[in-house]
Amino acid sequence: MKVLLATQKPFAPQAVKGIEEILTKAGHTLVKLEKYPGEEELKAAAADADAMIVRSDKVTAAVLDAAPSLKIVVRAGAGYDNIDLEAASAHKVVAMNTPGQNANAVAELAIGLMIFMARTQFTPVSGSELEGKTLGLQAFGHVGRLVGGKAKALGMKVLAFDPFLKDEQIQEGGATPVHSLEQLYSSSDYLSLHIPALPSTIGSIGRSLVEKMPKGATLVNTARKEVIDEPGLLEILKEREDLKYVTDVMPDNYAEMQEACGTRVFATPKKMGAQTAEANVNAGLAAARQIAAFFESGDCRFQLNKF
Ligand code: 3PG
Repeated sequence: MKVLLATQKPFAPQAVKGIEEILTKAGHTLVKLEKYPGEEELKAAAADADAMIVRSDKVTAAVLDAAPSLKIVVRAGAGYDNIDLEAASAHKVVAMNTPGQNANAVAELAIGLMIFMARTQFTPVSGSELEGKTLGLQAFGHVGRLVGGKAKALGMKVLAFDPFLKDEQIQEGGATPVHSLEQLYSSSDYLSLHIPALPSTIGSIGRSLVEKMPKGATLVNTARKEVIDEPGLLEILKEREDLKYVTDVMPDNYAEMQEACGTRVFATPKKMGAQTAEANVNAGLAAARQIAAFFESGDCRFQLNKF
């Protein structure tokens, strides 16, 4: 089978090598499309692909239309908001992700961003420490748990809100459960977002939640830019000169935010949470193994869509 590795943001070379080894051993052929300019190139490369591995690359209905032989697409990573699942089902294409595989890289970045902001973006002005502060985790999945564990090691108090988990599950993961977003936001010196981008979460974090945060608090977003109501956030950041916002990746109104807030805001130019060699190897090799298992035995363990 022909497997297309389509990554606008390429994997580390050792990950690509590992993917190729797994697929070749299983009798498949790997074709690479890296740093490509846009959908047209993806459509052309997908025309005769039986399987596809992507990162945040957009797998739209048009891409699926252009790939008549495609049987499976694996998002090497956790968030699958870049795959049109409905269109995949309509095309009878199995869509999968590789949950947890790049979680540690994202968790380390969240901690790094907190320290960066606590130390005023590494400028020489006097900053603050994380020890003794309260971290609120909005969602307690793979990444949230890891951020919580690392924060505890730094001496932070860790709270978590996750409506899909029981209190015991949050406690077993080492955090203190809270039962409303209002309570989470009003108790957290650092609020770290770990929610997916879904119709119910897109634009859901804005003024009304952020204004509840205590004096000097920092909102940390290593989830998705889409979950933020960016105009609403800018409004409250302008009004409350004590609040900070740090995000992986750049908001649409970043220039305005920077102008109004200076070192109280920081955004990475390109999403870099999972951009480590280790995460690339973990997620990339998992994707290759899932494709090999799918063709070998019909293994659909990580399937996201139904048809
Ligand atoms: C994920 O959802 O797994 C992360 O956001 C990683 O995305 P990336 O593969 O585009 O870096």
